[in-house]
Amino acid sequence: MCSVSLQPQITPSNTIIRFHMRLMKPPPLSSSSSAAAVFRKARLSPYLFTLLVFILFVCVLYGEDLTCIFGQQLQLTSSSDPIVIRTGKKREKLPFAVGKTDEGCDLFSGRWVFDESTRPLYEESECPYIQPQLTCQEHGRPDKDYQKWRWQPHGCDLPSFNATLMLETLRGKRMMFVGDSLNRGQYVSMICLLHKLIPDDAKSMESFDSDSRTVFTAKTYNATIEFYWAPFLLESNADNAVVHRISDRLVRKGSVNKHGKHWKGVDVLVFNTYLWWMTGLEFKILLGSFNDEVKDIVNVPTTEAYRMAMKTMLRWVRRNMDPKKTRVFFTSMSPSHGKSIEWGGEPGGNCYNQTTLIEDPNYWGSDSRKNIMEVIGEVFGKTTVPISFLNITQLSNYRKDAHTSIYKKQWSPLTPEQLANPVSYADCVHWCLPGLQDTWNELLFAKLFYP
Ligand SMILES: *[C@@H]1O[C@H](CO)[C@@H](O)[C@H](O)[C@H]1NC(C)=O
Ligand SMILES: *[C@@H]1O[C@H](CO)[C@@H](O)[C@H](O)[C@H]1NC(C)=O
Ligand SMILES: *[C@@H]1O[C@H](CO)[C@@H](O)[C@H](O)[C@H]1NC(C)=O
Ligand SMILES: *[C@@H]1O[C@H](CO)[C@@H](O)[C@H](O)[C@H]1NC(C)=O
Repeated sequence: MCSVSLQPQITPSNTIIRFHMRLMKPPPLSSSSSAAAVFRKARLSPYLFTLLVFILFVCVLYGEDLTCIFGQQLQLTSSSDPIVIRTGKKREKLPFAVGKTDEGCDLFSGRWVFDESTRPLYEESECPYIQPQLTCQEHGRPDKDYQKWRWQPHGCDLPSFNATLMLETLRGKRMMFVGDSLNRGQYVSMICLLHKLIPDDAKSMESFDSDSRTVFTAKTYNATIEFYWAPFLLESNADNAVVHRISDRLVRKGSVNKHGKHWKGVDVLVFNTYLWWMTGLEFKILLGSFNDEVKDIVNVPTTEAYRMAMKTMLRWVRRNMDPKKTRVFFTSMSPSHGKSIEWGGEPGGNCYNQTTLIEDPNYWGSDSRKNIMEVIGEVFGKTTVPISFLNITQLSNYRKDAHTSIYKKQWSPLTPEQLANPVSYADCVHWCLPGLQDTWNELLFAKLFYP
């Protein structure tokens, strides 16, 4: 984690980290002479000395155990495939697996196929659990094609979603989605995919802990499917499930247990976190506690703040989840479509009035997604913690048609100016249900039962 790659920026903290990188990148033993030279210079220059103090400080900030100081040397094993559990050299069957996906088939690499005969997997009006922010038809969306696309991986077919298998597997168990409103959308999609099998008097939906936790119960199965609001996974000043519109966002370093204690005992966990980190190139991290009178806050590059959160999440998984009995998933960034110039559209537009897909297979969109994907790749590439990655970013990138846009319940009444210009209030972040997020759950289903 000490080897960070940064875009050139001019803030002091970045200067320090880049300097630090130069110092730490070559293994200390082989570069002793250049390191000695740096130290000699440091003695001469108070500026460099200050930098070195700051380096130590940055190490403490990012440090997970001692790995900051010893870097790669402590990384004894590294697995390029995060879903493989290694016990010795043997590949073990993952919990809940009933089969396996064809060797070498990347489910996340594929194309969208228009398929009216099998999509949508349910009707909007049949699922009473969809929150009014996602019921696009009810709010006047004139087209329906966005519901009718099926994801077709290049290398194999996706197994069809079997609600019976899912519910039987969850008998006496808990499944929990942890994260932000996008993960809440996937959670609701999952319930919509399952609830028809359960009679009305045998299911319920309730909220607990000031609405931080939403629980769907399938009584005859003694199974719960839950959502837990934690947009950063760690403790933050946006943790209130209802009142969290905070512009000056602050996340407390290493504080995963505040929420993590509510995740213990869960059998299938699905994490996400991304959008709330996207406030700019830097992010504020709280070193002390939220109760401190004088708060100890540092600005760090957003990618590094995100990396810190990912590592903390993995450490929590290692300490709290039994890989022989449970599965953990992480869903990658859900892309927004707020700027039509990104896909070669008319300037000034966004997802509003978009009914077709982006056809360029190489379309990616914003750079911040690329940077965060790199961090995820690095962190998951190095870890031995078994976590399955749902790499939904690229396949969702093509779906500029699938957002809720203006067809949703509004938080507050719209002004005449807004109404005159729908682009100004279109929601290009969230997704209509049924729709794209059902595909995310088909992929989750595939990775759970056919890893
Ligand atoms: C769905 O899963 C159940 C339970 O494992 C199984 O009995 C059934 O045959 C499956 N249905 C299909 C269509 O594969
Ligand atoms: C119901 O499920 C919970 C786990 O969610 C488990 O602890 C409990 O033993 C189960 N009860 C029965 C009667 O199976
Ligand atoms: C929506 O897009 C179509 C072209 O796809 C265009 O003809 C129409 O004028 C647009 N409608 C609005 C309200 O912008
Ligand atoms: C996710 O998928 C995209 C597109 O296939 C790929 O470019 C990216 O490297 C993948 N990310 C990771 C971390 O595997």
